[in-house]
Amino acid sequence: MSDELEHLAPDAETLARRLAAVDYLVDEGLATALFLSLRLPQPLLLEGEAGVGKTEAAKALASALDTPLIRLQCYDGIDASEALYEWNYPRQLLAIRLAEANDARLGEDDLFGPQYLVRRPLLRALEHPGPRPAVLLIDEIDRADDDFEAFLLELLADAAVTIPELGTIRATHPPAIVLTSNRTRDLHDAVKRRCLYQWIEYPTAERELEIVRRRVPAAAESLAVAVVTAVAKMRESDVQKPPGIAEAIDWLAALQLLGVIELDETTIDRTLGAVLKYGEDQDVVRAAGLGSLV
Ligand SMILES: Nc1ncnc2c1ncn2[C@@H]1O[C@H](COP(=O)(O)OP(=O)(O)OP(=O)(O)O)[C@@H](O)[C@H]1O
Ligand SMILES: [Mg+2]
Repeated sequence: MSDELEHLAPDAETLARRLAAVDYLVDEGLATALFLSLRLPQPLLLEGEAGVGKTEAAKALASALDTPLIRLQCYDGIDASEALYEWNYPRQLLAIRLAEANDARLGEDDLFGPQYLVRRPLLRALEHPGPRPAVLLIDEIDRADDDFEAFLLELLADAAVTIPELGTIRATHPPAIVLTSNRTRDLHDAVKRRCLYQWIEYPTAERELEIVRRRVPAAAESLAVAVVTAVAKMRESDVQKPPGIAEAIDWLAALQLLGVIELDETTIDRTLGAVLKYGEDQDVVRAAGLGSLV
């Protein structure tokens, strides 16, 4: 572990302050999880409802540590060639043609050297030269398939990967790894066991108010309070997709842009699409009466 990290994050409170300085506000639980993940070091798996700040946690951590964020967005069918590395076929072919044209000798070892390697996010994160570790965000891991999770195990456990033609590449500055999942399926126990785990709750009304005020500074405080209150009520209602912090921010920004001063039934009705993104959910809150949100 580098001295720099010890200096930047001597304890969870200092890290929380650094995150607040880049407008990411954490509670004690998340601050502690991020601190331990950095300093142990051990990958951190973040789960929580949509829009509670899972992805943003990694981005904010990178900003707070003034280090690059390297992001791997997972999807169904992602494999090692997208995540780790791929050989640059066109370039290898060109090298062969050129060697033939020049009557030069070209061995297999030459063709599978580092200059023909296309580095994908995982490899870039491992090879990050420091002095501080990069932050590696493996976003929405639940979208990838089982095989891909198994493939990640070596990386998670040892901060190393094996490339058959080149051997094992070990990080000199192991990245701070943040994984996120929306729980569309359960992850392997083997992956979970290698990670610290943190469930991100919706923030308290107080913290959410501070978050939306920082993100939409032009909005009046009374409007921000009304939005946070209404969003909290929506979360408690029977909607299928409760609004996240992202929606609270978007809604406040929309209201502010429209010049709304006070949140009432009419303004909620006009702008409901900024906060509830499903027709059925809009029907649910309309049926309960929009007036009950203010
Ligand atoms: N703790 C926080 N402090 C400040 N802003 C936050 C916080 N949490 C979330 N936000 C804001 O909410 C937005 C949405 O967060 P983010 O995209 O990280 O959510 P997510 O949990 O990754 O959602 P999804 O499940 O949809 O991917 C961020 O862009 C950020 O502006
Ligand atoms: Mg996300």
